[in-house]
Amino acid sequence: MHLVCLLSALLCLSHVHRDPFAWLYGWHSQRYYSDSLQAAKGGECPDKCDCPPSFPVAMYCDGCSLTAMPAIPSHVKYLYLQNNAITSVSDSALSNATSLVYIPPNLPRSLRDLRLNHNKIEKATPADLEGMDNLTILYLHDNAVTDMSISLKALKSLTLLDASSNKLTKVPKELPEHLHQLYLESNSIDFLPEDFLHCCTLLQYIRMAHNQLTDKGLDLSYNKLERIPPVSTTLELLYLHTNQIKEFTLGSFCSFADVTNFSKLRTLRLEGNEISRQDIPSESSLCLHQASSIDIGMCA
Ligand SMILES: *[C@@H]1O[C@H](CO)[C@@H](O)[C@H](O)[C@H]1NC(C)=O
Ligand SMILES: *[C@@H]1O[C@H](CO)[C@@H](O)[C@H](O)[C@H]1NC(C)=O
Ligand SMILES: *[C@@H]1O[C@H](CO)[C@@H](O)[C@H](O)[C@H]1NC(C)=O
Repeated sequence: MHLVCLLSALLCLSHVHRDPFAWLYGWHSQRYYSDSLQAAKGGECPDKCDCPPSFPVAMYCDGCSLTAMPAIPSHVKYLYLQNNAITSVSDSALSNATSLVYIPPNLPRSLRDLRLNHNKIEKATPADLEGMDNLTILYLHDNAVTDMSISLKALKSLTLLDASSNKLTKVPKELPEHLHQLYLESNSIDFLPEDFLHCCTLLQYIRMAHNQLTDKGLDLSYNKLERIPPVSTTLELLYLHTNQIKEFTLGSFCSFADVTNFSKLRTLRLEGNEISRQDIPSESSLCLHQASSIDIGMCA
């Protein structure tokens, strides 16, 4: 009885799609089948592009004389765009894309704003972004990028990079010098190279929360920090020289300190800020009692 119901349901569906064998594809591909059937009718597949029913996760738009980026349907994983003359990407073209597994190749080099967040992109290779001299904003957050150890230095105009919520284990190798905002939170980064931020004197916002930073040193020198950021009690070296720090917040090191619970900080560099030795509260010695060197600068 059960089987009969199921069979008639399948027959009914296949009738709708006028394909007596559609049920053979099974429930899962049935969905794709109807998607691509719709695509073949021009519903989900942009004009000029080809969305083959046999490979519905691909969209072939190569060599189609396109001048604008086509709208990418949400199920498309593989997008072929080579040999076109695309000069514009409208805000909506990428707004439905959620399944892309790589940065579409041959994107127009004139792009200023590229938002590929919430897809399934695993890699960002130098070739993907090469020559995008005017790219200002790059959203790659909420993807599956494991490696960005490529140089982003060539992106001369980039001011905002959001690569948060990916699977990065390392910071991008070389950052572009005009970067103002860098978001790398919710990755698996476990190490900050010493010269990591020396590139970018214009950085105003860095977010690195929810990573795996267990490194014993943190170098945030040559920035515009106005306060000492809260750090783990296990941190041993903290470089904050040449910032605009105006107060010595002991709470950044210990939320409360007693003889058994103190900061492991050994070296703290604070020279080149807007504080002097008098700004260090006297009770600091309990929390920072392992600090053998607190450098506050010549004018202390
Ligand atoms: C995005 O998807 C919605 C719902 O399927 C559709 O109505 C809309 O036209 C799509 N937008 C683009 C730019 O394709
Ligand atoms: C970047 O913008 C400038 C000025 O609008 C333009 O001359 C140049 O061709 C653009 N670069 C690219 C790679 O499109
Ligand atoms: C030290 O205090 C912090 C809260 O400030 C607490 O989370 C941590 O577990 C304490 N560590 C020890 C060893 O007591």
